[in-house]
Amino acid sequence: MCGVFAISSLDINDAGERVVDGLKKLEYRGYDSWGVATSSEMIKEVGKISASNATFIPDTKAIGHSRWATHGGVTQENSHPHRYKKVTLVHNGIFENYLSEKNRLLEKGETFLSETDSEVIAHLIQEQLDLSHDTKSAIQNVAKAITGRFSIVVMIEGLDEIFVARRGSPLIIGRGKDEYVNTTFIASDIPAFLEYTNIVNYIDDEEMAIIKNSDVNFYNLCSGEKIEKRNIEVSWKEEVADKGKYNHFMIKEIFDQKQSLTSAVNHTDEEIAEFISALQSGNGVYMVACGTAHKASIAAEYYFSQIAGRKINVVPASEMPAFERFINKETVLFAVSQSGETADILEILDLGKKRGAKILSITNVESSSIARISDNHLPIRAGKEKAVASTKATTSQMALLLLLAYADDNRLNEGRLLLQDLASNVNDLLNPRYEEYIKSVAETLNDCSNIFIIGRNSLFPMALESAIKIMEVSYIHAQGFAAGEMKHGPIALIEKGTPCIVLGCDSETISNAMELKSRGATIIGVAHVNNVLFDQWLKIPSAGTAISIASVLPIQILSYYLATLRGLDPDMPRNLAKSVTVK
Ligand code: AGP
Ligand code: GLU
Repeated sequence: MCGVFAISSLDINDAGERVVDGLKKLEYRGYDSWGVATSSEMIKEVGKISASNATFIPDTKAIGHSRWATHGGVTQENSHPHRYKKVTLVHNGIFENYLSEKNRLLEKGETFLSETDSEVIAHLIQEQLDLSHDTKSAIQNVAKAITGRFSIVVMIEGLDEIFVARRGSPLIIGRGKDEYVNTTFIASDIPAFLEYTNIVNYIDDEEMAIIKNSDVNFYNLCSGEKIEKRNIEVSWKEEVADKGKYNHFMIKEIFDQKQSLTSAVNHTDEEIAEFISALQSGNGVYMVACGTAHKASIAAEYYFSQIAGRKINVVPASEMPAFERFINKETVLFAVSQSGETADILEILDLGKKRGAKILSITNVESSSIARISDNHLPIRAGKEKAVASTKATTSQMALLLLLAYADDNRLNEGRLLLQDLASNVNDLLNPRYEEYIKSVAETLNDCSNIFIIGRNSLFPMALESAIKIMEVSYIHAQGFAAGEMKHGPIALIEKGTPCIVLGCDSETISNAMELKSRGATIIGVAHVNNVLFDQWLKIPSAGTAISIASVLPIQILSYYLATLRGLDPDMPRNLAKSVTVK
């Protein structure tokens, strides 16, 4: 995944320090290690860049990287930039066939300093430069040899230019203005340079650019032909995410749900109607998403089935290649994503685009790659979500998907009323007393090493989502099951005191909970009414068909406290990143 940031300027002398500052704003993309290179120096460190005050010899040019390791451990050697002879490079993505090229270069006698796929790209560019000295065609030739998704930013010793190329992984050029008129910024996402400029050029797939100060030229990566690009003014304001009175972004964002559920469904009737007509235009809908967004999508599968009588095929985006034969010009591909940059989804949407499928999406980032590739897009307007664990974006996705299901059945107003009620009940529910109570429940679970969660109907995907939430921030093993499935195997794991979270209190779920309790399980019930079976009760509002949205709220708070009571940072859990731009 990783964040990439680079500066080329005529008159900024502290490019190195500014690249460090910009990378701090991209840390959500990966925080295993970081590194920055100027013309004369290279600093690489393991750990988070947010703690760094690195200083550099004055320079007008620098490239930097905040890493989420794919190939090679989290070490200083494996951190980017990678340098080989005259070539210094940062890379976002995966060079899938790197091993055969590496073996070939090893046989030639070349040696490598890291275990990464990225370092091999530096060697390949140098190999081409040894043949021709023309950096542009060197990069084009190397791009032809590479399979996989990537973006690269390259400096060549002795040259003023910075060279960049993209296939799949995002790369955006910021065109300096006012006091930065002689400066160009290159980043994997706009926040890195938004304090300097809001004028951008998006580098699309199979394109490259050569940048020297304010001079930027774009080319087709394959043919080398020049491309003209429009300057685009983005309306983003620098959204300074502020924890306010909270200790972490995660708990702040959980409490943001007091408002975000309302903005999620604040689209006009016309906007909803246009989206629904696109959804109805095809012959078969595939909903593709990853992680938590995938669980929200499974909930939507239930909504559309039960409210609108429509079958939606929900597939984790990474599994969609197995069903790619069903993607054609009749297909509607519907992507659900917070970041709008998830590589597994983009890969399928790219394929869908080529085959003439209709692309629909809902995202939290309106200028994201997924939003831009879509024929119809609706924003979920949850506001910036900074914690790696998705909370408010999840419930906003579910609220909008639920509303769309009602709209699909010509019952938009009924859906709006239901969600208004939910938003107002959530507003009442989320208060310090509720939070304190859930914290006390978390204290009772602090020593456990396994938690099971069960649910039926639209609460089944919420059992899966609850497990993700607990695992990713507290590192406690958690697993979600359809309530009726426990007896088909997993019940063998239940022993005295095993914590089981039961979502819902319908009679069938309660029978399944009873089966667990009979084998010694401790039952934590999530429901609008208490039940004699519950050892502990996490109350939620009575929410009708929106019960799945309400049920996830106490689990979010529980997960937060399971993490913080163990002294963990829930905002940046180990091994994860907020935006997953590698496959
Ligand atoms: C959420 O808590 C997770 N960290 C993760 O599963 C996330 O939902 C997934 O990576 C999808 O991201 P997206 O919504 O930005 O596409
Ligand atoms: N594959 C490269 C590595 O493991 C880049 C990963 C990234 O995009 O952060 O270093």
